[in-house]
Amino acid sequence: MIKHFLKYYLRAVTKYRVHSPFVYNLLVNVIEDKRYYYAFDPLKTLRARLLQKNERIEVLDLGAGSRKNSEKERKISEIAKTSISPEWQCQMLFKLVDYFKPSTVLEMGSSLGISSMYLHFGNPKAKMISLEGSPEIAKLARENFKLLSADIEIIEGNFSETLQVALDKLQKIDLAFIDGHHAELPTLKYFEQILPYCNEESVLIFDDIYWSDEMAAAWEKIKLNSAVTLSVDLFYFGIVFLKKDFKEKQHFTLISYPYKLWQIGLFK
Ligand SMILES: C[S@@+](CC[C@H](N)C(=O)[O-])C[C@H]1O[C@@H](n2cnc3c(N)ncnc32)[C@H](O)[C@@H]1O
Repeated sequence: MIKHFLKYYLRAVTKYRVHSPFVYNLLVNVIEDKRYYYAFDPLKTLRARLLQKNERIEVLDLGAGSRKNSEKERKISEIAKTSISPEWQCQMLFKLVDYFKPSTVLEMGSSLGISSMYLHFGNPKAKMISLEGSPEIAKLARENFKLLSADIEIIEGNFSETLQVALDKLQKIDLAFIDGHHAELPTLKYFEQILPYCNEESVLIFDDIYWSDEMAAAWEKIKLNSAVTLSVDLFYFGIVFLKKDFKEKQHFTLISYPYKLWQIGLFK
């Protein structure tokens, strides 16, 4: 992870070195957008409540698992602490959906439903399906959706079966957040399975692209896929775009300018 971070950091450029208007706008309007939306409040409260829950539930691990805990029973508070995306990343998911206004959203890996609801509330009109393989976790996610009146369908089961069901139901994928089964071959397989359902406006967000060497290898291959015309590496997320009017394949490794202060446009 540290090795990957160092490589990322050395490559990364700030908005002052980005010449693509599309990527510059994405940086300014989404990635560096500091606005706080009223929709964040109930999700913040719910996360805080889950972090206090000491009840234990059975966890069925169908993916690459947790580095910190491989027990079959886990406290809800522990799942909330280690498995769900941090608040600032969830806020970015909300902003990505708000910015791109997809009409269909697919999430692979609901966990407790927190990231799902950030995605949903970014554009509540979108039809959204979230996939989760661990039955007791899926049950909690459903309860959380009900609590905040989020109209999200959960399909329970292994991605190897449920992904196709979701693709058939949604018929097209405008935005997908792939956040489960962090291993190279499954990630590549899911990506290729989703691709035929994508269009030029589709946005595919991969979580934890440097979680392991395998995930880093998967990300390299995803970037090289001929359907991908633009990719953005934010270290925690990798985002790919398929627009055909980006005639030459481009890859950007981006960082917010406060983390590379010497790249603020004064020195070229
Ligand atoms: C990292 S968590 C998702 C976190 C969630 N997106 C968030 O940010 O709040 C990954 C989830 O994917 C589920 N998962 C992993 N591999 C799976 C598979 N092959 N089929 C179904 N679910 C799987 C796990 O049970 C886990 O709840």
